[in-house]
Amino acid sequence: MKLLVTGGAGFIGSNFIYYWLKNHPDDDIVNLDNLTYAGNLENLRSIQNNPHYRFIKGDICNVDDVTAAMHAVDVVVHFAAESHVDRSILSPSIFVMSNVVGTQTLLDAALKQKVKRFHHISTDEVYGTLRLDTREKFSENSPYNPRSPYSATKAASDHLVRAYHITYGLPVTITNCSNNFGPFQFPEKLIPLAITNLLEGKSVPMYGRGDQVRDWLYVEDHCRAIDVVINKGEVGETYCVGGQHEELNNLDVVKKIIGLLGKKESKIKYVKDRPGHDVRYAMDWTKIHMKLGWKPKYDFDKWLEKTVEWFQSNQEWWKRVRSGEYQEYYQTLYAGR
Ligand code: NAD
Ligand code: DAU
Repeated sequence: MKLLVTGGAGFIGSNFIYYWLKNHPDDDIVNLDNLTYAGNLENLRSIQNNPHYRFIKGDICNVDDVTAAMHAVDVVVHFAAESHVDRSILSPSIFVMSNVVGTQTLLDAALKQKVKRFHHISTDEVYGTLRLDTREKFSENSPYNPRSPYSATKAASDHLVRAYHITYGLPVTITNCSNNFGPFQFPEKLIPLAITNLLEGKSVPMYGRGDQVRDWLYVEDHCRAIDVVINKGEVGETYCVGGQHEELNNLDVVKKIIGLLGKKESKIKYVKDRPGHDVRYAMDWTKIHMKLGWKPKYDFDKWLEKTVEWFQSNQEWWKRVRSGEYQEYYQTLYAGR
C-alpha cells in the first residue's frame, strides 16, 4: 500500500511516519510538506534513506505539487496545517490558505486519483469549549462551535471533507483528537515551551489564572488510533480520540514539569490571557473504543516524564528550532502579555 502523508515533517506527522514504517514495514510513504517554521526534516533523519520513504517539498495549496505527490497513492493521511492557536490570532489568513484551501486542493486530487481512503486529522477544538463546573465531554454528536481562527479553519476543513464524501463519494474518515504531547513537538505549545524555557532557566508564561483544562494524549496513542481507523473504521464516519487521566489544568501540568526538572514554582509567570481562550476540553472516546477496540494506553505522568527526558536529551534539536524566526515570534507574542 502507498500512503501520502501531508505535513509529515511536523510533530504528529513525523511521529506517525515512524509509527507506520515500524508497524507496516512493507508500505511506502510519500511525505508532502512545504517545511514551514514547524516542519523540520531533522525529525526524520533516521529514516531518510529508507527505501519505503520519500520526501517531497511542496505546498498542499499548489495543484501541481499535490498532483505529483498523489501519483499511485492508495491512502491519504492529511496532517498538514497551521496548528498553533496563538499564531492564528496574530495572522489568520495563512490558516485559511493552508487549512481550508489546502484541504480542498488535496480533496480534488484524491478524487481524481480514486484513492481508497482520505483520512483527515482534526481537533477537539472544532466543538468549542466546555464549562469548568461540569463533567460534560465532547463527542461525535457535539455541535460545531469553533471560537478561534485556527479552530474555525479546522471546522471548515472537516465540513469540506464530509461534503466530498456525500457529494462525490470520496471514501473519507475523520479523527478529532485532543492535545497531543511527545517528542518533536514544536516548543511554542504549552508542554514543550514549559520544558525548554525551564531548561534554559527562563520563566513559563501562564495565561490568565492557569485554570484551563486540556485532555492530554500521548502522540503514539494518537498514531495508533489513526491506524485503527484507516484499517477498520467505517467510511464517512468521524471518531473522537482522547487521553486517559484525571482532569488537569494548565497550572497542574506546569507544576508537574517543574517537579520533574527540580525547579521552583516561582518560575511560573502569570501573563495576560489568550483572547477567546477555550476554558475546558474533554473527549468522550467511547465510539472508537466500542466499534474499533482502541483505547489510550499511555499514562500521562509516566509519558510526561519520558517527554521531559526526551527534551533533556535532545537539546540540540530544540535549541536550533528556537533560533531565528522563533525569537521574533516569542518576542511579539509574549511581550504583549
Ligand atoms: P505542526 O505544526 O507540528 O506541523 C504541521 C506540518 O504541516 C509542518 O511540517 C508544516 O511544514 C506542514 N504544513 C503546514 N502548511 C503546509 C502547506 N501549506 N503545505 C504543506 N505542508 C504544510 O502540527 P501538529 O501539531 O503535528 O498537527 C498536525 C495536525 O494535527 C494538524 O492538522 C492539527 O490541526 C492536528 N491536531 C493537532 C493536535 C496537537 O495537539 N498538536 C491536536 C489535534 C489535532
Ligand atoms: O485540543 C487540540 C489542540 O491542541 C490542537 O488542535 C492544536 O493544534 C494544538 O495547538 C493545541 O491547542 P491548545 O491551544 O490547547 O494548545 P497550547 O499548547 O497552545 O495551549 C495549551 C493550554 O496552555 C491552553 O489553555 C493555553 C495555555 N498556554 C499555552 C501557552 C503556549 C499557556 O498558559 N501558556 C503558554 O505559553
